[in-house]
Amino acid sequence: MRMKMIAGNWKLNNNQAATRTFVQNLESWFAAEPAGKKAASAAASGKIEIVIAPPFTSIEAARAAKKSEIIQIAAQNVYHESKGAFTGEVSLSMLEEAGCKYAIIGHSERRHVFHEPDEALEKKLIATLESQVLPIFCVGELLEERSSGNTEKVLARQLESAWKSLTSDVVGKMVVIAYEPVWAIGTGQTASDADAEKACDYIRSLAFEKFGIAASDSLRILYGGSVKPENSASLCSQNDIDGLLIGGASLEVESFEKIIETAV
Ligand code: 13P
Repeated sequence: MRMKMIAGNWKLNNNQAATRTFVQNLESWFAAEPAGKKAASAAASGKIEIVIAPPFTSIEAARAAKKSEIIQIAAQNVYHESKGAFTGEVSLSMLEEAGCKYAIIGHSERRHVFHEPDEALEKKLIATLESQVLPIFCVGELLEERSSGNTEKVLARQLESAWKSLTSDVVGKMVVIAYEPVWAIGTGQTASDADAEKACDYIRSLAFEKFGIAASDSLRILYGGSVKPENSASLCSQNDIDGLLIGGASLEVESFEKIIETAV
């Protein structure tokens, strides 16, 4: 039984004040509302993990505002070097110190807006796995890659270049993959349940071929791309989808709560 994950990627949204309010409201929901209590108890018993990924400057506000371990914190990016002349970058030990359990690596905006290549993402994945922070490694095809029938080729390239030097044990126990088709991100065009499941099943089959049954069975795979309360239940109930990475709908605490509710 793989632990589900509902993760909110806030991107460039939510300053410190908004982060504090969000965390306080979410924790009040966990404490006071029946659906929130159910989610909190699912989190306490290891059935679900609830994660928020604020911008770097709001991470400390999230850590300071939360009173329990129900909410985990992720960074939206990280650099593989530990220190030095790398203006604008943040290291894994800095994320650890700030209280991050996860780091998102290779989000489509990092790949396509900031042009991070596969080789750089492999370095980030390896460095993260050598730290106390766990990776949420994103993959996904562009619309033209999908239209030309190359979805699986793209996923295979992105994954094989990133995890070629990893071991089965590490992949099964520490890695989370997020399948986020680029054409579905921020567009309102969610992948159908069947398409999302097909891609996540394919990712699991790649893990099986390279790392074997134990690792592929325990590897957690999330779907992301225009997830909202209306479509989260059916996406989340697919065989190979172990949770959701949510952008826009994670910014309002009420819609994030509704999505959590559909997953527990
Ligand atoms: P949206 O949910 O806004 O489409 O964003 C998805 C995403 O990029 C999460 O990382």
